[in-house]
Amino acid sequence: MQSTHAQISYQDKPKFYKELQSEASGILEKEWFVNLANISALLKQHLPDINWVGFYLLHNNELLLSSFQGLPACTRIALGKGVCGTAGKTLQTQLVANVDEFPGHIVCDAASKSEIVIPLIHEGRLLGVLDIDAPILNRFDEEDKKGLEEITRILLQGTQWPEKFA
Ligand code: SME
Repeated sequence: MQSTHAQISYQDKPKFYKELQSEASGILEKEWFVNLANISALLKQHLPDINWVGFYLLHNNELLLSSFQGLPACTRIALGKGVCGTAGKTLQTQLVANVDEFPGHIVCDAASKSEIVIPLIHEGRLLGVLDIDAPILNRFDEEDKKGLEEITRILLQGTQWPEKFA
């Protein structure tokens, strides 16, 4: 495992995401729970203007809270509910500029104003979602979406996933 504690500059986004992706590859282990913990910490360390980042995993057909950084959060989200459940059901990244305008948005931290949720799909199977919340409106753009989707691809490919999350 390699990791540095130097802050990566967010000034040049393509460069930022290249460096972040390289750090993400460097900290991966084969165990999924180790990787979820460290990737959430890595994202919290380097992404400016976020108040919550973490994973929900699919268990018995609902999304259950897993590794995260931020305030204690909602523990169970039904597929199709909120931004996370919508990403899980549609299998599409949800980029929400203003959470108050998203029908059914689930409030975990009242500070959250915008949000991105990326479904984790491995070999055609939905494993869960990566959720990132920001305390400012319109925090994430297409470049963040692309960069973060690539981080999830690195995580998905570099991890040994169990048949189910017990
Ligand atoms: N806002 C999310 C719920 C999870 S928290 O933000 C951590 C949603 O609507 O699905």
